[in-house]
Amino acid sequence: MQAWSRAARAAGKRVGFVPTMGCLHDGHLSLMREAKRRADVCVVSIYVNPTQFGPKEDFSKYPRDFERDRKLCESAGVDVIFAPTDAEIYPAGAATTWVEETAVAERWEGASRPGHFRGVCTVVAKLFNIVLPDVACFGQKDAQQCAVLKRMVRDLSFPLEFVVCPTVREPDGLAMSSRNVYLSPAERQDALALKQSLDFAARDLPAGRTVDEVSAAMVRLIGSKPSARIDYIAFVDPETLLPVKRYEPGRMLVMMAVFVGKTRLIDNMVL
Ligand code: PAJ
Repeated sequence: MQAWSRAARAAGKRVGFVPTMGCLHDGHLSLMREAKRRADVCVVSIYVNPTQFGPKEDFSKYPRDFERDRKLCESAGVDVIFAPTDAEIYPAGAATTWVEETAVAERWEGASRPGHFRGVCTVVAKLFNIVLPDVACFGQKDAQQCAVLKRMVRDLSFPLEFVVCPTVREPDGLAMSSRNVYLSPAERQDALALKQSLDFAARDLPAGRTVDEVSAAMVRLIGSKPSARIDYIAFVDPETLLPVKRYEPGRMLVMMAVFVGKTRLIDNMVL
């Protein structure tokens, strides 16, 4: 992989990169198209990274279908798929050197999923060193992942451009996610409350409602869905992810994690 990238760069080509865990959908494909726009060649990695899953999480049942993913990559004009084995990524069996961001990663997803961002940062740092991209594209869907990785890139001086692409949604508003396949038809309906409650915030905060009022309305809406249970709803600064109480246009990110049945969904919006 490194040799291929070095040759591409030596030939004057800009290398674009989209890391994924497969089970690809239109959200992933939009990142690939953006990488193609910003670079001459596009590399996609498909690797379900065990170190970012907690012991009780869905690592073993995470959906995997390489042949389907391969066709989708081809349709998006991807030049190279890098699909390593566990032994290639973790040659000693387990990582003993970790990359850990300790400020932005601390709250929200970091608090609910201990070790998650340490696994993400470690594997993405490795993938950057293996793929040697000029530009890497990530999705706003995982807002905290973007904020944490941006810090890592800055703190460790990775020589690449970090691009955040908009969240791609189903026609009814549900953010696309590989985990949506776990939802029953009734849960799939209840899951619409995430985006609907974000729309409340987008309407009511600029109109002068307070964070507490808006938050209560969001909790009521999601709470009215039988299968939904809120993990957190947070109103934060988009870069530091520290809580903010006052709405300022473009300076407030609303993020949430909600269990719908057994499936944990996340969504967010910059207001
Ligand atoms: P995965 O969940 O497969 O997501 C790969 C990329 O697709 C991430 O940048 C994610 O934010 C983006 N993405 C997912 N759903 C999206 C949507 N609806 N709209 C736009 N972008 C979306 O995120 C990971 O994998 C892993 O943590 C990884 C970075 C690959 C490290 O293992």
